[in-house]
Amino acid sequence: METRIIDGAALARSIRTDLTARVAALAAKNARPGLAVVLVGDDPASQVYVRNKSRACNEAGIASFQHTLAASTSQQELLALVGKLNADPAVHGILVQLPVPKHISADAIIRAIAPEKDVDGFHPENVGLLATGNARFVPCTPAGVMRLLAHAGVDLAGRHAVVVGRSNIVGKPMALLLLEKHATVTICHSRTPDLGAVIRQADVVVAAVGKARMITADMVKSGAAVIDVGINRIPDGPDAGKLCGDVDFAGLLGRAGCMTPVPGGVGPMTIALLLENTVLAAELATLKS
Ligand code: GUN
Repeated sequence: METRIIDGAALARSIRTDLTARVAALAAKNARPGLAVVLVGDDPASQVYVRNKSRACNEAGIASFQHTLAASTSQQELLALVGKLNADPAVHGILVQLPVPKHISADAIIRAIAPEKDVDGFHPENVGLLATGNARFVPCTPAGVMRLLAHAGVDLAGRHAVVVGRSNIVGKPMALLLLEKHATVTICHSRTPDLGAVIRQADVVVAAVGKARMITADMVKSGAAVIDVGINRIPDGPDAGKLCGDVDFAGLLGRAGCMTPVPGGVGPMTIALLLENTVLAAELATLKS
């Protein structure tokens, strides 16, 4: 079987191009979407993500306000910044890059973000709206996965989708979105015995575990659609230091029906959907004012 490679970079570009018309319509009303990105500490991977998010904003005509705080920042100080951003009319979206340092409660920070500025879709109000089928801001990575599946023509109704990983950022919202499209959904995680036996039943696999190349060809049904959310560094061997996903991409060629690469699959989609959520936040704010 020939495996179709799903080009996330190209799809993300077309989403970003489509956004320019919406940004122009806002500009005609003297409104410019604005995204505040807050980074606490100096995790190198987070620094790269945050830089990429700011650059993408600038290209799309979205104002970006970057706040880089020391790892020693207290929860109170971070809450004060969030409060200021909540009150700033130039800021339509607020993203606090996760993880935050251990002495700060991520839940407390997420709850402090105004739900109508929560472009990550992590606030309990937005999680509840998503869970009840009334989504406002869908978390960017799972939203990007759904667009990739639609773009690849993968029919979800009645199909078995297996999500590997149960995080609040990817696994749980992913399962809700697949369910909404009438898939039969299984969520697997680190305590699932015989992961391979479960994944082998899947018509659609979404891998979001954070373990380099852990999903191998023998674990995947022939013809399955495989979406790889993982971004890992290869620990050793000839490709040490390079990026790879949770899926053994080379091993699955010829077995998966379609598959996303890493890099160039889900990653660029996450950023495109963040821009889309920010434009949506600005549109909703403009409607209200
Ligand atoms: N860390 C990893 N992914 C994400 C994301 O989508 N949003 C935020 N805020 N932090 C993250």
